[in-house]
Amino acid sequence: MISNQAKKQIDVWVAKYPAGNQSSAVMEALKIVQAENDNSLSADTIQAVADYLEMPGIAAAEVATFYENYNHQPVGKHTIRICHNISCMLNGADDLIAYLEKKTGVKTGKVSQDGLLNVKKVECLGACVGAPMLQIGEQYYENLTEQKIDKILADLKAGAQ
Ligand code: FES
Repeated sequence: MISNQAKKQIDVWVAKYPAGNQSSAVMEALKIVQAENDNSLSADTIQAVADYLEMPGIAAAEVATFYENYNHQPVGKHTIRICHNISCMLNGADDLIAYLEKKTGVKTGKVSQDGLLNVKKVECLGACVGAPMLQIGEQYYENLTEQKIDKILADLKAGAQ
């Protein structure tokens, strides 16, 4: 259920905490396991993480279902996480979300037919100074405009070819 490679990555995080507190690494462990399971967590994979960290399954499930960065259904190769919280909303996020949906043909919460991407509306990502913004993987794109979205989508498609 969890590959040896993933276990090695999780162990790096476990080592950052005092002995016996391995459950403190649960967020990173879930992230690592999600990445190797098509960016989605099933009940079984969440339980596998809990077992590996010797913590109750319900505690791992609480974390996995509380934060938006964990997925529980299939997603695209790239998840476009676009903020619609106050700073981004005041700087045009709603119009940009509509533009993004129109350009991609993908409604928020859905996956594109080619499986390349999905669009997710999220709450504040802590980059209000660069509002409006979106995130793909670890990368933030700030001060968004329609032109910037065009470039981001072109780069994603180019990378997929
Ligand atoms: S409100 Fe969008 S990053 Fe804070």
